[in-house]
Amino acid sequence: MPTPNAMSRDQIDELRAIAERVARRAGDLVRDGRPDRVEVAATKTSPQDVVTAMDLASEALVRDLLRAARPGDGVLGEEGGFAPGSTGVTWVVDPIDGTVNYLYGLANYAVMVAAVVTPDDGAPDPASWTVLASCVHAPGDGRTFTAGLGAGAFLGEERLELREPGPLELCLVGTGFGYRREARALQGRVLGELLPQVRDLRRLGSAGLDLCTLATGGLDLYFERGLQPWDLAAPSLVVSEAGGQVSGLRGHPAGQVMTVAGHPARIGELRAILESAGADDPF
Ligand code: IPD
Repeated sequence: MPTPNAMSRDQIDELRAIAERVARRAGDLVRDGRPDRVEVAATKTSPQDVVTAMDLASEALVRDLLRAARPGDGVLGEEGGFAPGSTGVTWVVDPIDGTVNYLYGLANYAVMVAAVVTPDDGAPDPASWTVLASCVHAPGDGRTFTAGLGAGAFLGEERLELREPGPLELCLVGTGFGYRREARALQGRVLGELLPQVRDLRRLGSAGLDLCTLATGGLDLYFERGLQPWDLAAPSLVVSEAGGQVSGLRGHPAGQVMTVAGHPARIGELRAILESAGADDPF
C-alpha cells in the first residue's frame, strides 16, 4: 500500500488529472442528459433523500472511467457502495452532490471524485484517510475545483488561498441539513443559537460546493452534521490546500457527527458555539 509520504508530486498530479477528467466527463453527462422533468428513481434515508436516474448513470460512468484508467484501485461511491482494490488507493465518488438542486433545475450541484489512501486498506473513513487528489466539478455553472496533497487548490487555473475573515458577527456561515426529521429538529435548535451571533446563514444545497465556495471566500465558515465520506473527500482537500481547516467538534476529526471548516483564525469560535449548543448531541 502506498503511504502518502511516498507519493511523488508526479503521482499526485496524475491522480488529480484523472479526477478532473473523470469528473468533467460525468459532469457533461449529468448536465447534457438532464431531462426537462427529472424523476425520482428511489429514496434513501427519508422521502426527502432522493436518487435520480442520473445519479446512477453518472456513478456508472465514473466507475467505468476509473476502472479503465487505474484498474487495481478501489472505489467507494454514494450509490454503488465500496469495491475494494489492491493498490492501496481508493476513489471516493459523489456522482451528483446536490441532487435536490439537480431535481429542481438549480445549477448548484457537482460531480466529486477524490483519491484517498486508508491505513488499513479498508473502506474509506474520514477519521483515518489521507486525501491525495481531488476534483469538484460543477457542470451547471462551469466551476472546476481541483486539489493535490501538498500541491495546492485551484479554481480552474487560479490558485486558492483562504483569506482571514473579519469578526464572527460579520461572518457569512454556510450549512446544510440532514434528511431525517430528528436531525433537522436538532439542527433547527442549533441555528437558533448561532444566527444572532453571525452576519447571516446560507444553505446552498451542495456540501461539496459549500466547502469549495469557502475556499474562494464566498463563505467565511461552514458546518454540517451528517456528511458522508463522498460528501467530504474531494472538497475537504480543496479547503485544506487553500489553507483552511476541516475538523469535527471536541478534538474529533471531521465526519458524520460534525464537520466544521474555515480559516484557522476563526474556526475555533464557531466550534465553541456549536459545542455549547450541543450540535453533536445524540438524536
Ligand atoms: C447532500 C448535499 C447537501 C447536504 C446533504 C448531502 P447529495 O448530498 O451535499 O447539501 O446538506 O447532507 O447529503 O445527497 O445531494 O449527494
